[in-house]
Amino acid sequence: MDSNQTILITGGAGFIGSHVVRLFVTKYPNYQIVNLDKLTYAGNLENLTDIEKSPNYTFEHGDITDAAYINSLFEKYNFSGVIHLAAESHVDRSITNPMEFVMTNVIGTVNLLNAAKNAWKSDFSGKRFYHVSTDEVYGELHNPEEFFLETTSYDPRSPYSASKASSDHFVRAYHNTYKLPVVISNCSNNYGPNHFPEKLIPLMINNIMHNRPLPVYGKGENVRDWLFVKDHARAIDVIYHNGGNGETYNIGGFNEWKNIDLVHLLCKIMDEKLGRPEGTSVKLITYVTDRAGHDLRYAIDANKLMKELGWEPSLQFEEGLTQTVEWYLANKEWLQNVTSGDYTKYYEKMYK
Ligand code: NAD
Ligand code: DAU
Repeated sequence: MDSNQTILITGGAGFIGSHVVRLFVTKYPNYQIVNLDKLTYAGNLENLTDIEKSPNYTFEHGDITDAAYINSLFEKYNFSGVIHLAAESHVDRSITNPMEFVMTNVIGTVNLLNAAKNAWKSDFSGKRFYHVSTDEVYGELHNPEEFFLETTSYDPRSPYSASKASSDHFVRAYHNTYKLPVVISNCSNNYGPNHFPEKLIPLMINNIMHNRPLPVYGKGENVRDWLFVKDHARAIDVIYHNGGNGETYNIGGFNEWKNIDLVHLLCKIMDEKLGRPEGTSVKLITYVTDRAGHDLRYAIDANKLMKELGWEPSLQFEEGLTQTVEWYLANKEWLQNVTSGDYTKYYEKMYK
């Protein structure tokens, strides 16, 4: 791979994207990193203040559903790689507004594939299109012995996962039909700093901080498999550089938790950190109406990635969760800006 390459990272102002951008900008000073983001409600340039002035970093404000704009970016920058994370990512929002998910996750991905195919013509040497996807494409598990493998059949069950499954299929179709050099990863639930407080862990942290009810869907029996976001970013680095052409890698830390057990653990850590008597936050737990079509259990088998590419998670869950809680407590202004909407003004202030 070219050691002076220019890489397009989409969705780099979001939760996972910002960790990937930071890792690439700091670890590869010879690369030029172009972060393309629409700055939807989930895109927050405050996530990147520490690297925004780096000479090898550029921000482009734009929409992946705009084909002409995407083509013009490929002309402007001569990218040799794409790491595509931009997406609508929240399952609950996909239930109320599926079309937005079709537009960004499906149409947006196909626009990027077309732009890469056209710009690279058939000279694919040294090129790579990396599509970042989710374990939710595999559906839900019932048998506790079962894990999602790269060979597990797709069975998406929410509008979000159906849109991600569709985009995965398009990526593979472009590889098969046009020989576009692609790689895909399907990761389990991430947690960590900069997570938008609509998702389970940051929502619970925020609500505990403000003594608000902790809404647990259904009976809290659903199981998710949690991975620290920086470990996901490290996996993306390894797969981008060393993954096989046309291959798929599952990413996960063998770390399954029932939602209710996870919320109890968070309550315990928060009580300690806030100096409240143990048992204070647990009293805020409130069982609420279940999510429509709520997938029961996700669990990733990450052996292919671990054995073939040598990646492994760096953090134990309690340690990662404690670091995450500490980050939110130390970054109350970030949380305040995100919950008040003030963060959306950062782009105007810094870039206009
Ligand atoms: P996020 O919602 O925090 O960030 C998404 C980013 O994409 C935002 O910055 C947003 O502004 C940008 N974006 C949205 N629509 C856009 C558009 N039309 N054009 C350009 N930019 C647009 O999401 P995340 O949790 O960081 O997830 C990133 C990717 O990783 C997604 O593809 C998601 O499916 C995948 N993923 C997420 C998880 C997880 O646990 N969060 C797990 C596995 C895979
Ligand atoms: O598995 C990977 C996926 O993980 C990613 O592809 C998605 O982008 C990401 O959002 C995440 O999806 P989930 O739906 O699993 O995450 P969420 O944080 O929304 O919910 C986690 C679990 O907690 C799920 O079982 C629903 C439950 N939940 C969630 C919220 C927001 C609650 O019980 N209460 C809540 O308020």
